[in-house]
Formats: sequence, C-alpha cells, structure tokens
Amino acid sequence: IRDDKATTSKYISDYIISRLKAFAPTPEKPFVLGLPTGSSPEGVYKNLVAAHKQGEISFRNVVTFNMDEYVGIPREHPESYHSFMYSHFFSHVDVDPANINILNGNAEDLEEECIAYEEKIKRAGGIELFLGGIGPDGHIAFNEPGSSLRSRTRVKTLAYETILANSRFFGNDLSKVPKMALTVGVQTVLDAREVVIIITGPHKALAVQKCLEGGVNHMWTLSALQLHPYALIVVDEDATLEL
Ligand code: GLP
Repeated sequence: IRDDKATTSKYISDYIISRLKAFAPTPEKPFVLGLPTGSSPEGVYKNLVAAHKQGEISFRNVVTFNMDEYVGIPREHPESYHSFMYSHFFSHVDVDPANINILNGNAEDLEEECIAYEEKIKRAGGIELFLGGIGPDGHIAFNEPGSSLRSRTRVKTLAYETILANSRFFGNDLSKVPKMALTVGVQTVLDAREVVIIITGPHKALAVQKCLEGGVNHMWTLSALQLHPYALIVVDEDATLEL
C-alpha cells in the first residue's frame, strides 16, 4: 500500500526496472512483458520512459504482449489501445516494433486472431511479467464478471459498467464506446510467471475488497490471482477504503 497514485506508480516502475536489469535480456533470451492500457498505468509508463531517456534501461530485447483491444474501431482511432500504447510508451522507447504484439480488433476472423495470439505467447516462451490494472467491477484485462477463470484469449462483450466507465474517453457518449473487445483470458494472465497489478482511487475500493478479502470467484475476476504463486498488487490508500 502506497500513499497516492504517484508513489504507487513509482513503486511499480522501480520494480519493473529492477526486474529488467536483473534479467539482463538478450536477443536470444528476451524479457516477455505483458502490458495494460487505462489511466492507472499512465504514471508507470511515464516513469519507464523517463528512465529510458536517462539511459537507465533499454527495451531493445523486450517482447511485449498487450492485454486487450477494442473490436470495431480503427487502429488509428485516438482511443484504440494501439494508439494509447504508442502515444504513452512505444513511441518513446527503443522497443523493436517487431517485438510489439497487440491484438487486432479488426481482424477478419476474430476467433482465429485470438487463437494465434495464444500461440504467439507460447512461442515467445510465455510471459515473464504481466502488468495489469482492474476495472471498478474487478475485471482484469476485459475479463468481465462471469468470465471463466480458465478462460483464454477470446472475444468478449463488455459489461454495461465497463462501457459506462470507458465512456469518459469517448466524449461521455455511450453510443460511441465499443461494445466488444478482444482480451487475454484469466488463465492467460495466471500463466504469466509473475503478475503485477496497479490499483488506485476510491472507485476501485470495493473491487479491492471483493478480490482480496473475498473468495476466488468468477464474478470478481482479479480474485483468481489469489491462486497465483507470484502476484504483487500495489494500491494507493484510497483503494483500501473498504478493507
Ligand atoms: C479497461 C482495460 C483494463 C483496465 C481498465 C481500468 O477496462 N481493459 O485493462 O484495467 O480499463 O482502467 P483505468 O485504469 O482507466 O481505471
């Protein structure tokens, strides 16, 4: 538990930097990093970019897999997760574009896209560290309440609460918010060797309580992390209000 969003972000960016340095990735042994979007990780990306600009870390031998992407908005749309990732992170660091993996929400065959994504993760040797956030309903990636805890990358219809929460990025116009997404599954996240979650703000406090103090269940999908041998959840004071 950290005081506020800035110190929570700093804790996580410092942690990722130290993990990257200790791993010392090479082209033969890259560091496979799972990445989220959303307002929660923005500070983490800012700190990682700053550390890169100061010459402290390189992302040259890092392979990335993003958690999710909307279905049905063009890649160039300012609110697509492609756009988010390039504007907040990829355009500012030395990651090799060939090492960036993001689900294509405009693929002709969405199911095939999801199966191929799982295969790609497997071929990369699995994810070393998956960074994530959660929605106010406790969803990880876009694994909405009711998702199987054994789920894998698939098409998911978004919950009304998620559409509402994300409408702030679409001029508060619900009709403009995509209603479907491609997302890694809960099991895909659980398969990562380490999972690090950032949660800030009082609107996430109920989810923190349900996921950490409640039992493992498919209505609060982050709760599945209770079964993970190596999970780290970093929250600010506001997010602990219901504990
Ligand atoms: C979306 C993303 C999640 C993210 C969540 C929270 O639903 N698919 O991966 O954790 O938003 O977003 P924010 O950090 O903006 O609250």
